[in-house]
Amino acid sequence: LFAGDRFGIGDRRPPALVPLPTFRGEALDPAAGNGDLCVQACASNPTAAHQAVRALLNSAREHVTLRWRQTGFCAEDGTPDPPGMFGFRDGTSNLDVDDPAETAEHLWVNDGPGWLHGGSYLVMRRIRLLLDTWDRTPLAEQEAVIGRRQAGNQRIAVGPTAHSRLAAPAANNGAKLLRRAYSYDAGVDPNGLMDAGLIFLCFQRDPSRQFVAIQRRLAGHDALNAFSQHRASGLFACPPGVQPGSWIGAELLS
Ligand code: HEM
Repeated sequence: LFAGDRFGIGDRRPPALVPLPTFRGEALDPAAGNGDLCVQACASNPTAAHQAVRALLNSAREHVTLRWRQTGFCAEDGTPDPPGMFGFRDGTSNLDVDDPAETAEHLWVNDGPGWLHGGSYLVMRRIRLLLDTWDRTPLAEQEAVIGRRQAGNQRIAVGPTAHSRLAAPAANNGAKLLRRAYSYDAGVDPNGLMDAGLIFLCFQRDPSRQFVAIQRRLAGHDALNAFSQHRASGLFACPPGVQPGSWIGAELLS
């Protein structure tokens, strides 16, 4: 939206909205990430989400073209941390959205241009999960990779490369993320392997101090790297919510 100042709003670019660095081991498809605008359509059934995207696209067709699209789903078991594709609960140790001190420190933007105050930054990563390899790995090893028991979800004593230990605030100068991940299923690859994984979405106040710092550590050392690969990426600035009668991004674009 700001690159090359195509819309005359280059001076309103938030300083933190810069391309994410390259991380070790990733194999990104540039056509399946980034872009000027990002819309996330959520519904309790896939048809409704699909129709919402179609309606938005049809109403904006004169001005926008579709760059990429990704469907996702999540298990619904009434908890904030339903099990993901690896069979472990995902989202257990998450930012507490009901704690104003925590959201002020880690979630809502309060610096840079005014249009983003009260908003947040979204990082999207499409992460392929190597399910064929994971499913042939003994449970005790899986638990050591994640750092939790599969049944019961308790933390266990693990080595320094366990995912939840490396990603935890204690290992990252206190940095926390609001994680809101979904799963995707894209069928089968040419080798007959499951093509599926995680649409990792996280919200934060400062991508460089939060996602980038944590992901650098994970990309270098995470035991999960043997079972996953990052395939697409995006960083977006999300304007704050709006009052009735106004619209999202009004302060930026009018
Ligand atoms: C390879 C795909 C990934 C899988 C399958 C995965 C799965 C999990 C699981 C099962 C947990 C433990 C339960 C929980 O606290 O939610 C966890 C924790 C966590 N993950 Fe991931 N994750 C992945 C990628 C990432 C990425 C890319 C990041 C951020 C850069 C991340 C950040 C975190 C954080 C911050 C925690 C909480 C750590 C703690 O405080 O205990 N994860 N993840």
